[in-house]
Amino acid sequence: MSMLRTKSVEQAIADTDEPEFRLKKSLSALDLTVFGVGVVIGAGIFTLTGRAAHDVAGPAIVISFVVAAIACTLAALCYAEFASTVPVAGSAYTFSYASLGELFAWIIGWDLILEMFLGASVVAQGWSAYFGTLMSQLGLPIPEAIGYGGTVDVMAILLVVVLGGLMTFGIKESLRVNLVLVAVKIFIVLFVIVAGLLFVNPANWSPFVPPAQPTEAASGLTQPLLQFLSGIEPTAFGVGGIFAGAALVFFAYIGFDVVATTAEETKNPQRDMPIGIIASLLICTLLYCAVSLVVTGMVPYQELDPAAALANAFVYHGADWMATLISAGAVAGLTTVVLTLLIGATRIIFAMSRDALLPAGLAKVHPKLRTPWVISIVVTGIVAVVAGFTPIGLLEEMVNIGTLSAFVLVSVGVIVLRRKRPDLKRSFRVPLNPWLPGLSALICVYLMLNLTVETWLRFVIWLVIGFIIYFAYSRRHSRLGKPGYQDFALPHVVSHERDDSDGDPRK
Ligand code: ALA
Repeated sequence: MSMLRTKSVEQAIADTDEPEFRLKKSLSALDLTVFGVGVVIGAGIFTLTGRAAHDVAGPAIVISFVVAAIACTLAALCYAEFASTVPVAGSAYTFSYASLGELFAWIIGWDLILEMFLGASVVAQGWSAYFGTLMSQLGLPIPEAIGYGGTVDVMAILLVVVLGGLMTFGIKESLRVNLVLVAVKIFIVLFVIVAGLLFVNPANWSPFVPPAQPTEAASGLTQPLLQFLSGIEPTAFGVGGIFAGAALVFFAYIGFDVVATTAEETKNPQRDMPIGIIASLLICTLLYCAVSLVVTGMVPYQELDPAAALANAFVYHGADWMATLISAGAVAGLTTVVLTLLIGATRIIFAMSRDALLPAGLAKVHPKLRTPWVISIVVTGIVAVVAGFTPIGLLEEMVNIGTLSAFVLVSVGVIVLRRKRPDLKRSFRVPLNPWLPGLSALICVYLMLNLTVETWLRFVIWLVIGFIIYFAYSRRHSRLGKPGYQDFALPHVVSHERDDSDGDPRK
């Protein structure tokens, strides 16, 4: 059963001590919260809110945001427990290696690659769209061929290359740039809430949950899997619409889990990780609910712009300068999302190649910069090509399904690790285990069922490719499977299983 071999928590921590793979520990709880808010608030709130309200949920999109937030909060608690117990780069991937075994770890890693690569590319195109809008508003339109939707999205490529360079240079430096951009972004979101209140007409909130209605738009491959399986007539809005909306706007919360990928670079992960993850999620939930309430109050949901709802809600009321300000804020805001997703992608691949499930040479850390520079360059190149040359912008649901499936496995992993290793020091514990992690897994599965049939088909193809790579390459190269691997790291750790060793770890 080598596929289900697990890596001990002590082993995972010891691996981070090897000089050639050692990352710099410089991040504090505040850094992590800023990092979290930086990656979470992005294309989701600036673009998807409008589409979800317009197409599936109406003003009840506010409830969709709450439902998605509940799913994320439960998953966040599980992430926080893991990140405070196993402070190693790689997030959910590393956690499941320690609890569920190698094959599950591989699947999660593969899902996270989907989440972060695709997420970075999707948001880079969203950035390019907003950048184009902003430049036109400023009277300097970008030629169609090289902007969003053009032959080659040169703007998206430039963005990815600049940010990729920044991240290769150093994580602390990247986070400094992040700090400024996050401040701008939060200001703009607060601006939408406060200025938007002036234009709210409560009549627009009625009916708050529009009655379910048959729809052409959601049928065949584009209907939620749950609807397809139950054979009921495709509908939009109503209570079903709230959940379909939640499955879609879930995208807006993606990113808090990326905070966990930097555990190894955190000064005091046991304390700071739970604070960073939960604080960023809380801040974002409050802002999202407020923004969606205000925007659906400003414009009847049928007239919301599915592409740039926030800015255009102000144009609707003739407040053009406010719209320009919001576009500028979106450009700043989406920049940080792309940066953090790029960093997350490199850290996942770093962890997987350090374990030799991907080629180990990739994981080399630069002797001076102390960043995984080879991976950074590879990730930047791939994301730039995907964002520049493919119509990836509409695949948010693919990002969601990858992330939700990782959440399911992390939640189950908490229950498994509590049973297998009750002795481990957990500075943060999910309350009500196993009920709460179990509920977390169930809610995530339910949201996944609310994603479209075509998203599921694409996801299955992605998984099949993952399995092929695992069985053809990773399983045989895995460092955990190599003879002598366990002995190699034991002197660094005080292992629970070796308590009978008279203090000699090699005995
Ligand atoms: N949560 C991120 C966004 O909304 C991915 O852009």
